[in-house]
Amino acid sequence: MSSTDVLREVQQIPVEGRSPLRFYDYAPNTGSFAEDARAGLSARPKTLPAKYFYDARGSALFDDICRVPAYYPTRTELEIMQVHAGDMALAIGAGALVVEYGSGSSLKTTRLLDALANPAAYVPVDISREHLLNAATRIARAYPSLPVLPICADYTAPFNVPDVPCERRVAYYPGSTIGNFEPASARAFLRDMRTVVGEHGAALIGVDLQKDPAVLQAAYDDEEGVTAAFNKNILHRMARELDAEVDPGGFSHEARYNAEQGRIEMHLVSDRDQTIRVGGRGFALASGESIHTENSYKYTLHGFEALAAAAGWTVADVWTDEKAYFSVQYLT
Ligand code: AVJ
Repeated sequence: MSSTDVLREVQQIPVEGRSPLRFYDYAPNTGSFAEDARAGLSARPKTLPAKYFYDARGSALFDDICRVPAYYPTRTELEIMQVHAGDMALAIGAGALVVEYGSGSSLKTTRLLDALANPAAYVPVDISREHLLNAATRIARAYPSLPVLPICADYTAPFNVPDVPCERRVAYYPGSTIGNFEPASARAFLRDMRTVVGEHGAALIGVDLQKDPAVLQAAYDDEEGVTAAFNKNILHRMARELDAEVDPGGFSHEARYNAEQGRIEMHLVSDRDQTIRVGGRGFALASGESIHTENSYKYTLHGFEALAAAAGWTVADVWTDEKAYFSVQYLT
């Protein structure tokens, strides 16, 4: 997971009133979207990888989702951070370097940074450059003496954490994005995370929990239609970036709870027979046929403990909300 030869570019980004940001750019997902879209639309059933939701527009729509009342994960996790960040900081200890995976708007990060004693550095990693730089600049202004070293990368591919002296590295992975991986991939990913944080490293991970399917259904198919717009953005993005011929209006957003797999699924269901054209190829969809765009696995506390253990981690602490909707897990 660490190798210097994949590093693309380092830039200094000036920030008023403090030292500049050191920005590491791995130029993620240039080229691969076209290939992954073609592969996904050739598959049966058709799929598109969820990571392509997060262009600038998609990241903004996700921020909107976080404000939708039915979408409980964000506010529940924020509440857990609000109540327990002090205990988390005690567990982590002073002088930690925080690597945040998929930092997005770094919404929950300030709760953690406020509680930590003398953090050594903040290293946000995100695939969306614009979002990353906005959030990193905001954090840099709020914490003038904290070294902020943003990395624009697909964090599922190798990247280097800058070699800043620290007491320990802690991987912060909030938002329950771990749920987007198939369990086997989640295990491999957690194993890679151990390599990134090294010998005395730790991880703080937001994990969404199993609950009444009706609550899940409402969270992923909100009345306001924000999640529908988020889901369809992947088709708009194909049109924008890949010059695809596709009519997002000809698809309906669907959230389905898969009880057997313990996951909520997002689909784009074709309203009619139609063809998507991309990269010189046509992909025919029958009326009612779906493109499966996302899985969001929900874990039991026991299930996640077993997954972490299989990746070589020990669950040292778990914090949940009163309803046990969501958990923040401290792994060592
Ligand atoms: C960012 C992956 C945690 O699965 O809940 C929100 C993405 N998809 N609504 C999730 C998402 C639909 C979200 N994660």
